Amino acid sequence: MAQSGTSKLPEWLKVTPDVAALNRAAADEFVRCAKDAIGARGRFTVALSGGNTPRAVYALLASEYTTVLPWEKILVFFGDERHVPPEDAASNYRMANESLLSRIPIPPQNIHRIRAELDAEQAAAQYEETLKTVFKPGTGELPRFDLVMLGMGTDGHTASLFPDTQALQESGRLVVANKVKKLGTERITLTLPALNAAAEVMVIIAGENKAEILDRIVHSRGTIEFPIQLVRPQNGRLLWIVDRQAAKLI
Ligand code: 6PG
Repeated sequence: MAQSGTSKLPEWLKVTPDVAALNRAAADEFVRCAKDAIGARGRFTVALSGGNTPRAVYALLASEYTTVLPWEKILVFFGDERHVPPEDAASNYRMANESLLSRIPIPPQNIHRIRAELDAEQAAAQYEETLKTVFKPGTGELPRFDLVMLGMGTDGHTASLFPDTQALQESGRLVVANKVKKLGTERITLTLPALNAAAEVMVIIAGENKAEILDRIVHSRGTIEFPIQLVRPQNGRLLWIVDRQAAKLI
C-alpha cells in the first residue's frame, strides 16, 4: 500500500490507491488475523463494524474467501448496533447478514448479534453477559477480540462512541446504551475498554468526505479531539486502512 503525500505517515496508517484496493486489503487482513488466531487458539473472534464502508469488504469475503476460511471456527460479534430490530434497514446486523453472514457456511450459533429490538440498556446488559460467557475472561481481565473492525464518521465517532456522549466516559463496562442527542436516538456500543483490549483494531475509511477529519487526526500532534483517537489497543495492533480519496489532504 502506498504512503500518501510527502510527509511521513504514522506507521499504523496505510493508504490504498482506491476503494477496491482498500476492500482487498481489509479482506486480506481479516483472513490473516483469522488464520493466525485459529492456528494459535483454535478459533477467531471478530467484532464487525457497521455503517456502509465495510459492506463491500464483507461482500468480498463472502464472494472470494468462502472456502479459504474454516467459518465454523469463527465467532462473529458487533462493535455496535442501532436501536432497531434486526430486519430494520438501519440495522448493522442486517447489513452484515445481507453482505456476508447469509452467504458463508457459518453456524448460526457462531453469530452473536446485539439484540437491539430490546430496551437499549437491556440489550447492552445482555450483550455484555454474552461477551463474558463466550470469552470467559479471568478475574480483572477483559474479553480480548482477535480483531475489531471499525469505521469513522465525519465527526470522528467510531462504533457508537460519538463526540460529547456519555459512553466515552465509561471505564468499567464492556457494552453500554448510549444516548446520541445529535441523532435523537440511542445506540448500543462496545466501550473504549472493550475496544482497547483487542489484539487488533482495523479501521477502514474511504471517501473524500473523510479527508478533512483524517487530516486533522493525522496532524493532531497528540491532541485528542475525536473519539476515534481514543481507540489505541493497550496490547494489540492498530491498523488504519484508508483510500486515496480519504487521504487526499495528508
Ligand atoms: C455505525 C458504525 C459507525 C460507522 C461510521 C462510519 O453503526 O454506523 O458503527 O461507527 O463505522 O459512522 O460509517 P461509514 O463507513 O458508512 O462512513
